[in-house]
Amino acid sequence: ATVLILNGPNLNLLGRREPAVYGRETLDAIVGRCRTRGAALGLTVDVRQSNHEGDLVDWIQQAGPEVGGIIINAAAYTHTSVAIPDALRAVGLPVIEVHLSNVHAREAFRHHSFISPVADGVIVGLGPQGYDLALEAMARLIQEAKT
Ligand code: DQA
Repeated sequence: ATVLILNGPNLNLLGRREPAVYGRETLDAIVGRCRTRGAALGLTVDVRQSNHEGDLVDWIQQAGPEVGGIIINAAAYTHTSVAIPDALRAVGLPVIEVHLSNVHAREAFRHHSFISPVADGVIVGLGPQGYDLALEAMARLIQEAKT
């Protein structure tokens, strides 16, 4: 199966954006890490990033039959978007929410996520490794959905 890994606004700047909060790893490096981990788990990964909420909605809607699940770091849209969780609900695939930083240790406005209620699980605060962990969990969710 393919796992769609969606990344929201400003994550294209990873590596130079607030390294004390988000670390030094670039989005390209995260893409590489996801490909490697995915291959080890027998999954194809399709990693995308957009600064535009509508792109994320379109990509969720366009998920074809080859897509077994969605891993999403909606970045700031996590805390503002109704359209993204609505789209996730509409497609009905397994969803894992990831955040690099521990959003609960940060400003109050980052404590609420519109994505979490539609997610099977949430991984926060573990940096880029969160994507590896999400892929491992997703492999199991996809397996379970088949049986
Ligand atoms: C983030 C946390 C969000 O609050 C923030 O707006 C981001 C990144 C994270 O991965 O830690 O852009 O999703």
